[in-house]
Amino acid sequence: MPSSAALGSLMVKHINSDTNGPILELGPGTGTFTRALLRQGISEKNLVLVEQSQEFVQLLKTFFPKATIVCKDARQVTKLSDELGIKEFDEIVSGLPLNAINHEQRRFICNESFKLLKPGGSFVQVSYLPRCSIPNDVISKNSAEKMYCGVTFANIPPAFVWRAQKR
Ligand SMILES: C[S@@+](CC[C@H](N)C(=O)[O-])C[C@H]1O[C@@H](n2cnc3c(N)ncnc32)[C@H](O)[C@@H]1O
Repeated sequence: MPSSAALGSLMVKHINSDTNGPILELGPGTGTFTRALLRQGISEKNLVLVEQSQEFVQLLKTFFPKATIVCKDARQVTKLSDELGIKEFDEIVSGLPLNAINHEQRRFICNESFKLLKPGGSFVQVSYLPRCSIPNDVISKNSAEKMYCGVTFANIPPAFVWRAQKR
């Protein structure tokens, strides 16, 4: 089931329209959060979408022709950023099913992502459980601060959003 537009808006409400560096989206699926980023005033050409499903990648390429869309596992985020010549991202938006990924892989993906996040930027994560799925030890290790962004019942299933802002 694609995410709702209401969830998309909740995921990106902290992102300023004048953000003009690259923004990383992990697990964009059908592109609901990507559309929300565009509604927020973010330029399509600044978006880097990392999606492991080839079928979703084909779909995303038709929807967002100016974005950089990579068919890779999010665990390879450091390598693919190097290949793209990107040293840091202004913001990271994640639709990855982190609660369904084993703990070590979840910690690895979050740690690698935080290393690529600009100070002041946030890693924002959807959760279908009423708890933040960004591991606490990753948040403290990367000098970030956890913030609850809210819940939306206008989504199947209802979804919670947290973000961790890098100091
Ligand atoms: C819950 S769906 C995202 C739904 C999306 N917000 C939408 O509206 O379509 C999770 C997405 O993460 C992708 N995904 C899961 N694990 C991944 C990984 N390790 N690397 C990259 N993408 C992954 C899945 O293929 C799927 O498209």
